[in-house]
Amino acid sequence: MNTPIPQNQRVVSGMRPTGKLHLGHYHGVLKNWVEMQLDYECFFFVADWHALTTHYDDPSDTPTHVEDMVIDWLAAGISPSSATIFLQSEVPEHAELHLLLSMITPLSWLERVPTYKDQQEKLREKDLATYGFLGYPLLQSADILLYKADMVPVGEDQVAHVELTREVARRFNHIYGREPDFEERVMAAISKMGKKNAKLYKDLRKRYQEKGDEQALETGQALLDAQQNISVGDKERLFGYLEGMGKIILPEPEAKLTKASKMPGLDGQKMSKSYGNTIGLREEPDVLDKKIRTMPTDPARVRLTDPGDPEKCPVWELHKVYSDDKTLVWVNDSCRSAAHGCLDCKKPLIEAVQAEMEPIRMRAKQFENDRTAVRAIISEGSEAARDVARETLDDVVEAMRFTKK
Ligand code: TRP
Ligand code: SF4
Repeated sequence: MNTPIPQNQRVVSGMRPTGKLHLGHYHGVLKNWVEMQLDYECFFFVADWHALTTHYDDPSDTPTHVEDMVIDWLAAGISPSSATIFLQSEVPEHAELHLLLSMITPLSWLERVPTYKDQQEKLREKDLATYGFLGYPLLQSADILLYKADMVPVGEDQVAHVELTREVARRFNHIYGREPDFEERVMAAISKMGKKNAKLYKDLRKRYQEKGDEQALETGQALLDAQQNISVGDKERLFGYLEGMGKIILPEPEAKLTKASKMPGLDGQKMSKSYGNTIGLREEPDVLDKKIRTMPTDPARVRLTDPGDPEKCPVWELHKVYSDDKTLVWVNDSCRSAAHGCLDCKKPLIEAVQAEMEPIRMRAKQFENDRTAVRAIISEGSEAARDVARETLDDVVEAMRFTKK
């Protein structure tokens, strides 16, 4: 049976422009994005303004980092025909929504975001006592709400930011979702559903609001989703009315936790630029070969005849990511019995990593040779993103009644 693809679900995620990516990014984030772009409407963007929150003193590398990172996204298989790829600073609506949201966000909400104190401790050499640094989780909220995202794929460290986003959305809806003629507009919208559906909707609402019946809420939401003749604005009113609130202008997104990537680096620690233990996504074959050949192994294996313990070896950690069960059994047995040396053990690993990287490297080469095409992808994506962003901002400004009619 074919499971229906929720094409109408929107996904938003961003990455700071750190330049060229490594295999840790690939296994931790990009593979996941590549899969999602087929099942959802995806917006993936480079968060270049976010880079300023910690690196305001020297932003000059950022444009190069942006391009290098997007080349890696494209090389990994993110496709501009399946996802909208864009640059935050080319969509000034992010700044506009950030500003508007900042007016309703209590300071204490930002002060208690765990990354605020953590990062200040971690990056002690930097002066992070700035307004921008305190506000960056709210900039992230604007990034997400601007596209009315249903889902935000993030790592564990970012979940608190999505939680903040939900709270800010709720507060916004609470303050600005109450139109003076809300009830009348709701009644008019209900009558557009047809008699049968209108009655069902009212019954479901009653069951949810009087008895807290979650099932009724879900059925009601599905019923609204399926309505074809109702405008987006009316639908938002009906969703709000169903839940007992005003109009929902900014829907609350869900964090979709990316499985913690256990991608080990060349020394067995987590792969990270700051540990200097990475394999670059576009590493040349001979460099890759050498990096793995010179990886440290179980120190007990001094001579070929010394048995080893894979659990004490970083090479084993990489085998666990790349090798099939048969190879894993072979590695484990022959290491413990000293049936072969470490170079033999590394051979199938080198082959597997090379095979994975080959198509990525080829695609990256194409884009490296045509940076104009890369820039075009970014600016076309940014234009498409702006259209969506503008619509949301129009809703936001209208809800705030900050415009003259
Ligand atoms: N703050 C995120 C990080 O440091 C990057 C980011 C910015 C982001 N805006 C976003 C992620 C919106 C998801 C959604 O990794
Ligand atoms: Fe590590 Fe393989 Fe050498 Fe064992 S044989 S120590 S698993 S590299």
